Amino acid sequence: MITSHNIGILLDLIKNSKKNSDLYLLVKKNSILYSSKRKSNFCLKNNNIEHTLNISKFYQSTLNILIPILRKNKKLVIAQIGQSIDGRIALNNGNSHYINNPKSIIYLHCLRSISDAIIVGSNTIKKDNPLLTTRKIKGTNPKRIIIDGSLSLNNKYKIFNDGNENIIFTKSSKIVKLNNSTIIRLKEKNFTKNLITQIKKLKYKNILVEGGSKTISELIDNKYIDILQFMIAPILIGSGINSLNLKEISNLNRAIRPKHNFNELENEIIVNLFLNS
Ligand SMILES: NC(=O)c1ccc[n+]([C@@H]2O[C@H](COP(=O)([O-])OP(=O)(O)OC[C@H]3O[C@@H](n4cnc5c(N)ncnc54)[C@H](OP(=O)(O)O)[C@@H]3O)[C@@H](O)[C@H]2O)c1
Repeated sequence: MITSHNIGILLDLIKNSKKNSDLYLLVKKNSILYSSKRKSNFCLKNNNIEHTLNISKFYQSTLNILIPILRKNKKLVIAQIGQSIDGRIALNNGNSHYINNPKSIIYLHCLRSISDAIIVGSNTIKKDNPLLTTRKIKGTNPKRIIIDGSLSLNNKYKIFNDGNENIIFTKSSKIVKLNNSTIIRLKEKNFTKNLITQIKKLKYKNILVEGGSKTISELIDNKYIDILQFMIAPILIGSGINSLNLKEISNLNRAIRPKHNFNELENEIIVNLFLNS
């Protein structure tokens, strides 16, 4: 049976398999089949084994969303937004727990586990105080990259106290000591462009940008995001923080109309927009 205890191992196996490997994976109703014969487009490297495991609808949907991303076998930057149907990611007071179904946390940890690094802005650290790990599924933790323009964070936040490392990008020259952190200072002029150049130099394969709104919007405006993924909960929040605040356009023919797909996950809709393809 696929559970939160082994989904991380399976995702690691898929992630580390080579494109032309000799084991294939078929995700179908209630089961997942590993085979040495080609039965689907998904393949995994392993010894010649054939094995069937039971799988719930939730993990089946999770794999159906994540495997095509993993099988692209190229560097990808994915931005993920958990939002209400009226486009809010948090209340004005910063409260964002929980807009999505509780199972969406497990899905999010799966998405983190296929990512080599995770990017968030400083407001998300201040409002949510997240760890940004894969603890719900015991997967591989991505490296944490925090954008803290004015270097306003301090050691009281969890990311500075769990022993894992952080990379902090800033434009501030303030002298601050943050636990387990490398602070990289960039010029204020063209900060976002320089930031993208520096992150590319770190040579991570999959990068997840987890928020908030300012961080994701700025990176979309600078054409850094390959896949923009919305996890849309069927709830109405009213006033709150918009999921995105992109540059204004003057005519609808300038709207971004990317390739896209829709997936269902526990009564929520996952929409992928393929921005760079
Ligand atoms: N539902 C979800 O999926 C989700 C996910 C994550 C966060 N959230 C919510 O989102 C809210 C926070 O979002 P937010 O938009 O206010 O803030 P944010 O994006 O988390 O952080 C913004 C700050 O990060 C720095 N920053 C990020 N990108 C930058 C860039 N390209 N150039 C310069 N500085 C940059 C700036 O710091 P300085 O101001 O110091 O310059 C900026 O003010 C929280 O309430 C959180 O709960 C929701």
